[in-house]
Amino acid sequence: MRQKNVSIPRLWRIYLQNMANERNIIFYFSGTGNCYSAAVQVASALGEAELHRVTRKFAESVKKEKRIFEADRVVVIFPAYAYGLPSLMYGFFRNLKVKAEYTAFVVSRGTKHGAAITHAKAYFKGAVQACFDVKSIENFVPIFGLPTADEVERGIEEQRGAVEAIAKEIEARKSNRVKTFHPLFGIVSRTFRVCRPLLNLSLRITKDCVRCGRCEKICPGGAIKSRDGLPPKINRWKCQSCQGCINVCPKRAVAFAGIKKNGARYIHPDFRKYK
Ligand SMILES: Cc1cc2nc3c(=O)[nH]c(=O)nc-3n(C[C@H](O)[C@H](O)[C@H](O)COP(=O)(O)O)c2cc1C
Ligand code: SF4
Ligand code: SF4
Repeated sequence: MRQKNVSIPRLWRIYLQNMANERNIIFYFSGTGNCYSAAVQVASALGEAELHRVTRKFAESVKKEKRIFEADRVVVIFPAYAYGLPSLMYGFFRNLKVKAEYTAFVVSRGTKHGAAITHAKAYFKGAVQACFDVKSIENFVPIFGLPTADEVERGIEEQRGAVEAIAKEIEARKSNRVKTFHPLFGIVSRTFRVCRPLLNLSLRITKDCVRCGRCEKICPGGAIKSRDGLPPKINRWKCQSCQGCINVCPKRAVAFAGIKKNGARYIHPDFRKYK
């Protein structure tokens, strides 16, 4: 990904990086686009980077093909879910093999990431030089409700500022040590992962569906499958509870406990390829 509209000092740094032939790889998991936006911003700050969205399909291919990702910098960007990670990310970290001089993790969270960084480091077998925490818009709508337009605008600006600072640290290959372990976080995260299929019992697609296919396209869990002449079907075991389908549906046809049909919806504006 090439940088557009950049300042002269930044262009100069990018030029030097390109001359040094540096290779950057960024992996991101994203349901509503906060992590995607952070990934694009970091890629842009580094001048050039290979971006991979972590979906079930991608995670399975990394495992099956035993791929080794070689780069100067590897960055993994993921959201905090119930003080831990999205379920799919545990397996992804376990199977991720990298050969890199510098590896950094970035967690995007609404309020508190809890043990998300601790869990990511525990499952990943390689060395991690730095971990960062970004305040983003809270997208877990059944509990926290939906943001107003003002909150969205402020939240996006806040995230952008935080990611800009983090990107500079990553570019300079700065190390740090983040200690976040607390047994309570682990208990909450595990309970959430075990109960997730139960929570998803109320997740369904109503007759308002016009079969546009956006929910299937955005779904990182590979949990939505279209059917001939019928609304798509959600596999509650595969669903990651990422909120993507609920927020992307133009007809508000994805129903879930606590979601008001006429309430606001949230997708980060940079996630437009799924809109
Ligand atoms: C199922 C679920 C659980 C979440 N749990 C937490 C949490 O424990 N702590 C927190 O700060 N944010 C939590 N969030 C908010 C997300 O981490 C945050 O909004 C993130 O930026 C979403 O990234 P995305 O837009 O790339 O999917 C949760 C969101 C979801 C969907
Ligand atoms: S996004 Fe909504 S309207 Fe489109 S296929 Fe999915 S449920 Fe149906
Ligand atoms: S079914 Fe909906 S909430 Fe579940 S993983 Fe797919 S997009 Fe996310």
